[in-house]
Amino acid sequence: MAGQNQIFLGTFIHSKALDELEYFHETAVLVDKEGKIVRIERGYDLEKARENLFPGLGWSSEDVAVHVCRDGQFFFPGFVDTHLHASQYPNVGIFGKSTLLDWLITYTFPLEASLSDPAKARSVYTRCIRKTLSHGTTCAAYYATIDVAGTNLLADLCLAAGQRALVGRVCMDRLSPDWYRDADAAGAVAAARASIEHIRRRDPSGTLVRPVITPRFAPACSEELLRELGRLAAETDLPVQTHISETEAEVALVGQLFPDGGSYAQVYDGFGLLTRRTILAHAVHLTDDEARLVAARGAKVSHCPCSNSAITSGEARVRRLLDLGVACGLGTDVSGGYSASVLEAARLASLVSRHVAMGGDERAKLSVEEVLFLATRGGAEVVGLEGTVGAFEVGMEWDAQLVGLARVDAAGEVGDEDDGNVDVFGWEKWDEKVAKWLFNGDDRNTKKVWVRGRLVHERK
Ligand code: GUN
Ligand code: FE
Repeated sequence: MAGQNQIFLGTFIHSKALDELEYFHETAVLVDKEGKIVRIERGYDLEKARENLFPGLGWSSEDVAVHVCRDGQFFFPGFVDTHLHASQYPNVGIFGKSTLLDWLITYTFPLEASLSDPAKARSVYTRCIRKTLSHGTTCAAYYATIDVAGTNLLADLCLAAGQRALVGRVCMDRLSPDWYRDADAAGAVAAARASIEHIRRRDPSGTLVRPVITPRFAPACSEELLRELGRLAAETDLPVQTHISETEAEVALVGQLFPDGGSYAQVYDGFGLLTRRTILAHAVHLTDDEARLVAARGAKVSHCPCSNSAITSGEARVRRLLDLGVACGLGTDVSGGYSASVLEAARLASLVSRHVAMGGDERAKLSVEEVLFLATRGGAEVVGLEGTVGAFEVGMEWDAQLVGLARVDAAGEVGDEDDGNVDVFGWEKWDEKVAKWLFNGDDRNTKKVWVRGRLVHERK
């Protein structure tokens, strides 16, 4: 509960490094009224912790809520979804045999355009936020639509629900039909500014919700629009999000539309859109030179394996991006991706990396530890919240999920609670339990979710 000191007791698991999970057992994590982790006591006697409430902190027992995780449960950092379209949530699973450019025309633009109806936008955005929270997503980088009122509503709903978010009003002045497009660059930039101002008024410190400059992708933006949005990024120092090199046809289209622009990454760079705060979704067909440019600018990549598989865009080579120094996180890319679950994205990142490995690059395989890093700590870096969320460290904020797995007893029974597909027999080591959760888990295992210390989801 916000506004109260809290003590969380039990087992905590987080990423210490890309390839290492750290396990703390019999541990107390103390969270202050602002939702900040102020102390971590390892190897603590849980019963004693309930009684003496850590002398020296000045916390009185009336002032402290104590949360104990049951045997077999554990606390894990909340997931960061570095790329999804809240406006496309009703289309999850609906993509037929399409690929990107026909998918946009057939499924996506009509749905996004229809959200200019405020009632529809409210229902879609409310549901999307509830669903992502239920999957443990404590922070999301959202695309809304070109509609300013709807984009602003999405930001307001995130604030009300307590989900940390980047919210972007989509800018696009070409490629799409005229019923879903900015009339010109000036109008698009004015609309982007209007939404930025609204979000800043609602959350002036940007603690929970921040605006993000959102050119849809180069083919949908005129040179003038890209130039103006690059200027806006320089003026405001705000984050930028867009798509890059998702499909080969799109890369070819960029070559045609920007004949003097160089590579796809150079096109963005030429307009000042590759910054330390830029989130590039996909990067499936990026060349090594482009990856080096992205790394040099400090821009980040959102890897979206569900989407890349569903709409057959290709296999991003995450190991290579990491080797070249590009920071990566995971995106569900709803609704190119069919699932709003970052756990599903992590599992698919593992499988896609195995497909890359089967193509001849054995090193490409990502481990359980690595994909869970991308889902948490890596994602935090991608959205500019490194050191604030993504792990359990003093000074970080309590964005966390309580995970429960079904314990099978001697008679082969499990308890009353619905723990989904993850059966644990009791002999598994902790890293094996985590692997079982990664590959078989879902929202039934996500019992509670907190953002900045506030309980934002509880599974009934
Ligand atoms: N490229 C341009 N727009 C989109 C979109 O909405 N989804 C995906 N996956 N790629 C895009
Ligand atoms: Fe996308």
